[in-house]
Amino acid sequence: MPTSRIKKIGVFTSGGDAPGMNAAIRAVVRSCHHYNIEVVGIKEGYNGLIDGKFIEMGARSVSNIINLGGTILKSARSKAFRTKEGRAKAFQNCQENGIDGLVCIGGDGTFTGAKIFSEEFGIKVIGVPGTIDNDIFGTDNTIGYDTALNTAIQAIDKVRDTATSHNRVFFIEVMGRDAGFIALNSGIASGAIDILIPEQKDSLEELFDTFTKAKERGKTSSIVVVAEGEKLASTYELAEKTKERFPDYDIRVTILGHTQRGGSPSCADRILASRLGLGAVEGLRKGLTNVMAGMRSNQLVYTPIEDAIQKHNEINRSLLKTAEILAL
Ligand code: F6P
Repeated sequence: MPTSRIKKIGVFTSGGDAPGMNAAIRAVVRSCHHYNIEVVGIKEGYNGLIDGKFIEMGARSVSNIINLGGTILKSARSKAFRTKEGRAKAFQNCQENGIDGLVCIGGDGTFTGAKIFSEEFGIKVIGVPGTIDNDIFGTDNTIGYDTALNTAIQAIDKVRDTATSHNRVFFIEVMGRDAGFIALNSGIASGAIDILIPEQKDSLEELFDTFTKAKERGKTSSIVVVAEGEKLASTYELAEKTKERFPDYDIRVTILGHTQRGGSPSCADRILASRLGLGAVEGLRKGLTNVMAGMRSNQLVYTPIEDAIQKHNEINRSLLKTAEILAL
């Protein structure tokens, strides 16, 4: 076991924050201490790597954070790291601080940066998938997704109460710029009449047909869950067009937005983050680089970071059918 290879690991969070990132930071820090590897936290993602915002992280520095949403290391989407000069400065900082391995917690933008950095300078990198969108190949779930789903259904349930009381139609937009995982699963879990996601070619006629059938079946209120990245139209446009077609409908729009990114992580996210954080450190220790630590069928797996970026987690299309049948 080439334990001498990695001496000091830098850990950071980058891109959109996700509940469970703190649990992942804690796992990385504690695993490093377990294996006698030095560890520093890098603040504000790649920007902190460029600006040398490094903090020593003792085992106690991550006490009482497993339950916290957000990220104690803060996060950013760095423009400077997209430049060669920015990355050169970042590498200089790594060298000056003796950092020879990085654990990069984030989504595909984070992994793209890590891959380029590692290819340019030979520094070892391991990705840990942290994003509420669940759109990363190589893991069944990303850190934050389960919590975001639970936040979404709690909010949708509340909207349902008022929708029912007023006989209203609600279009509820959930996050997911390019992916419909949150929409599809929160839609099923909250009994939505229709679910619109970017992976599926939707049409207004199909949506209207759903409303017509709902009316015939005696439904007096309805909820449509729309993914942020839905291609057919914006959520507000969908509501307007529905009103034109069904003038007697009382329609409202609710955008759940960044509420889905906050909050205390669910048990599943804490466990996932703990296992992936440990897996990332153990991967670096084994000499792995340019891979992402993921969990598939409850087993830790390492996927080439290139695949994690380029391939896509497929939506389970049978869930669309499930949603349709049960919306009867
Ligand atoms: O990638 C996670 C995500 O929450 C997307 O679902 C959403 O489109 C995006 O981040 C929002 O990013 P920002 O916080 O920069 O507005």
